Amino acid sequence: MSSTSLFLATAIEAVLRAGEIQLSYFGRGVRIEKKGVIDLVTEADLAVEEMFRDLINSRFPDHLVLAEEHHQTDSTVDEPGFRWIFDPIDGTTNFAHNLPIFCSSLALEVSGRLEIATVYDPTRRELFTAERGGGAFLNGIPMKVSLAEKLVDSVLCTGFPYDVHDTLDDVVSLFSQFTGKARAVRRLGSAALDLCYVASGRLDGFWEQRLQPWDIAAGALLVQEAGGRISRLSGEEFNVHAGDVLASNGLIHDAMMTVIKTHTEALD
Ligand code: IPD
Ligand code: CA
Ligand code: CA
Repeated sequence: MSSTSLFLATAIEAVLRAGEIQLSYFGRGVRIEKKGVIDLVTEADLAVEEMFRDLINSRFPDHLVLAEEHHQTDSTVDEPGFRWIFDPIDGTTNFAHNLPIFCSSLALEVSGRLEIATVYDPTRRELFTAERGGGAFLNGIPMKVSLAEKLVDSVLCTGFPYDVHDTLDDVVSLFSQFTGKARAVRRLGSAALDLCYVASGRLDGFWEQRLQPWDIAAGALLVQEAGGRISRLSGEEFNVHAGDVLASNGLIHDAMMTVIKTHTEALD
């Protein structure tokens, strides 16, 4: 087996195992703790992350792991070599409230470039996979972004960051701008799935601010490999460490950027 196939096989194995662990806790009164006023962690997040760190340490002991629950504060920068970027549960608030919209999200970065992505939603049994240059797949079937050309024909999605109580005006006013222009705007509670849904054409566009690398690394590669466009909100080049992301089918990207620019100028 080539090393790339071994990495992809490991990435698939990891998210499928994550899904099994998630389901073993889901809906059974999982223990919850607070990391912030509205930012939760459950015993399932911790169990999934432990499984993942053990898996990578045993298979690739020289690879780095950047995962949400036990990351070092200085580890959210580009690293040389191999780095696995993992979110043990993306959609923890949904998970803790027995709402079946969550996944695990995993990307392999090689010298700062995203090469492999896997996201698994165990309640729908949907596995999203991509390799750089090899296309994007949903349960093994190639997937493509949508063909919507106008905002008025588009379903968009966003998420609210955990500091939303302090940044409400900014977050809600952009939400309101898009709601006044799109067919619909959704807010599902899992940035990784939001990006997968742009990649699979279920959504036409997604934006969010103040995200972490583990929320968006896998989804970003999936959107690109499905033929979509990904950038920062300003249109600058996408960067997993920048925190903000604009993803679309490509066709409505400029129109979304115009809405964001008008909103940003109004704030200044
Ligand atoms: C969160 C989800 C949510 C997004 C938040 C993220 P978590 O991740 O992706 O959709 O709006 O900004 O932090 O905490 O469930 O892993
Ligand atoms: Ca997350
Ligand atoms: Ca998480």
